[in-house]
Amino acid sequence: MATDETAGTVPAAAAGPKGRSVRFWVLAIGAVTFLAGLLFGYDQGVISGALKLVKQDLDIGTFASEIITSWVTLGALAGALVAGVLADRIGRRKVLVAAGVLFILGAVVEAVADSAAVLTVGRVITGIGVGFASTIAPLYAAEMAPQKWRGRMVSSYQLAITFGIFVAYLVDDALTESGAWRTMFLLAVVPGALLMIGVFLVPESARWLAKMGRKTEARDALAHVTPPDKVDAELAAVEAQIATEAEGGEASWREVFSPRMRKALVVGVGLSIFQQITGINAIIYYANEIFDRAGLTSTNQQTTATLYCVGLVNVLATFIAVAYVDRFGRRPLLFAGLVGMFVSLTAVGIGFATTGTTDTGAGASLAGIVTMVALVVFIASFAFSLGPVVWTIISEIFPSRVRGRAVSLATAVNWGAAFLVTQFFLTVVNEIGEAATFFVLALMCVFAYIFVWRYVPETRGRSLEEIQEQWARDEPASEWEDTAPVFHAHD
Ligand code: BGC
Repeated sequence: MATDETAGTVPAAAAGPKGRSVRFWVLAIGAVTFLAGLLFGYDQGVISGALKLVKQDLDIGTFASEIITSWVTLGALAGALVAGVLADRIGRRKVLVAAGVLFILGAVVEAVADSAAVLTVGRVITGIGVGFASTIAPLYAAEMAPQKWRGRMVSSYQLAITFGIFVAYLVDDALTESGAWRTMFLLAVVPGALLMIGVFLVPESARWLAKMGRKTEARDALAHVTPPDKVDAELAAVEAQIATEAEGGEASWREVFSPRMRKALVVGVGLSIFQQITGINAIIYYANEIFDRAGLTSTNQQTTATLYCVGLVNVLATFIAVAYVDRFGRRPLLFAGLVGMFVSLTAVGIGFATTGTTDTGAGASLAGIVTMVALVVFIASFAFSLGPVVWTIISEIFPSRVRGRAVSLATAVNWGAAFLVTQFFLTVVNEIGEAATFFVLALMCVFAYIFVWRYVPETRGRSLEEIQEQWARDEPASEWEDTAPVFHAHD
């Protein structure tokens, strides 16, 4: 299990396979994961700037543009559902290569589209790629990361998503004046190609290889990320865990839903739902609209506010999670983030309730200022908690036998919830008003807090195998003892 690096430092530079150090391979695996997240974020963010231009150019109505926006999510849902089964059968790397191919193909189809129908096809292809990448990249990172680095590596994936969204906003900003929406889409080809090349260079997941009985290859893959003197012990731990899981033949969907898996499944699916129904994507997709209703009436003001208040803050605050998820643990970050989200959503609600939305005028209206500050707090709070930590925990809590399928399911639920929230956010706002909508989102944060407190275990400091042993002990999740070394401020 444990490798010998101390918290906060890069693993020891022992000579690993192909003459490269362990540190090199950990970083290479991190880079591949990063590219997958970047593409996920880029494809999610790019539409916000492209849509207006597409509407003018292809002469399409509101309904078609809603489909063009949201069907990426449906593609992602479908992609996520098959990704896990595929990854269990053919391996993690091949699915990541397939994601790269889909990203490239989708980008090209979008870029040459001459009708809403063709553009939608491109969006769905891209979406399936997003589904593949969002399921398999964190899973692969968790399976390959040295234990003390695991939270950090999976949160780097979230950092990449936020970076991708930010880059997309920047590209949109730069190309809007020239109307080059085709280029906006086409640019995704570059990271798509880099992802494919990168995947060829890194090893297959050692845990998957061991599960397939390919011991020599599993050992070789482990040796990339483990100091030489620890490889055999680590392989033995992985194999022992797989042996206890091996009874009963090939893993099936039925097993994912079996009573034994119930607690982990409740945590994975529950966190996925809460990550979405607390409103993040409603804010990301409709930020311009929200700023507009809060009094920032010019398009320029809105895009600038979105670029910085949403895009940049999202990236910067994610660093907090990368730095602290393996030091403070998952639960403290979730609690702190949910409190921040609750307070800010409530503040936005009060802002709308007291000022109303009419007659705020352009510029520095009270509602405008309150909304802006509160949304910054909201994005920052999400970005160091629910954003990264949810993906981290989902990739940690399932036994390797069903990990692919279970992670798939949780990811598909995430996309399903994202689809519903983004599809209905504006409708709900029109029905019950801004203030009530934000109060409902704030209430969801309260439910999320209770859920985390009761059901979500602290996974910091345990190997993936130890997490399974801990589930088997049948203690309440809130009482899992935190076994990691105590964090000292100077670490
Ligand atoms: C969520 C996405 C969201 C993104 C924002 C991710 O963790 O899954 O739905 O758009 O964070 O940064």
